[in-house]
Amino acid sequence: MLSNSVNLLICKDADAVSVEAADRFTCAAIRTVAERPVFYTAISGGNTPRGMFELLAEPGYAKLVPWSCTHIFFTDERYVPQDSEDSNFKLANDLLFSKVPIPKENIHRFRTELSPEDAAKEYEKEMKAVMGDCPDFDLVVLGMGDDTHTASLFPESMALNEQEKWAASNYVEKLHSYRLTLTIPVLNCAREVLVLVTGKDKADALAVAFQETQDITAHPIHAIQPAYGKVIWIVDREAASKYQAGL
Ligand code: 6PG
Repeated sequence: MLSNSVNLLICKDADAVSVEAADRFTCAAIRTVAERPVFYTAISGGNTPRGMFELLAEPGYAKLVPWSCTHIFFTDERYVPQDSEDSNFKLANDLLFSKVPIPKENIHRFRTELSPEDAAKEYEKEMKAVMGDCPDFDLVVLGMGDDTHTASLFPESMALNEQEKWAASNYVEKLHSYRLTLTIPVLNCAREVLVLVTGKDKADALAVAFQETQDITAHPIHAIQPAYGKVIWIVDREAASKYQAGL
């Protein structure tokens, strides 16, 4: 069930989820740089965040975000070339980075031209070089698969057990491919986590996400419990339909 550090916003549709997410991203950036020099964020890929990226690239939002003080990392990446249509970096670059004045050195992609292991090691080095010794992202934007995976932490996968490294390579049996992902300790270091979930295909997973019994191995989304940060679920009515039915 929802703990007292978790908030659930049910929006009318996926577009409304994107607006809420873009609003919160922008507010988090402005609020952060009012107190600290840099806004550190980690974004997910997949389909759900597309609308948020497109909105942030529009002048109304883009002029508000302090891009020169923003460092963008990825919560995870597919093990594909950076110009692949499956690349989370390519998605964000095409929809957002290429349209806003964020310095190239402030964008941190997984270097998938390396081996999976080396790409994860190099990413951790880059995170430490930029963020220092604490990966306390100001904002992490996650999605959730219909199998309750998040980032590239898939059910029964090895990376779920990683408690030391900040980034890990993760062979995903059902995809027959490697993924690269931030680890649970890093995600739970965040000051604020948004989890964006839309569509009726995610309704069963959302109900499982909020069930009383927690089983991280079977349902990795259960691992997202920031020690000090807050989790804000931004979902649409379709995704919430089974959770609401159970209330
Ligand atoms: C990825 C994402 C992943 C995503 C979920 C949901 O690399 O695919 O980072 O964790 O958030 O798979 O994907 P959709 O948004 O496409 O439903």
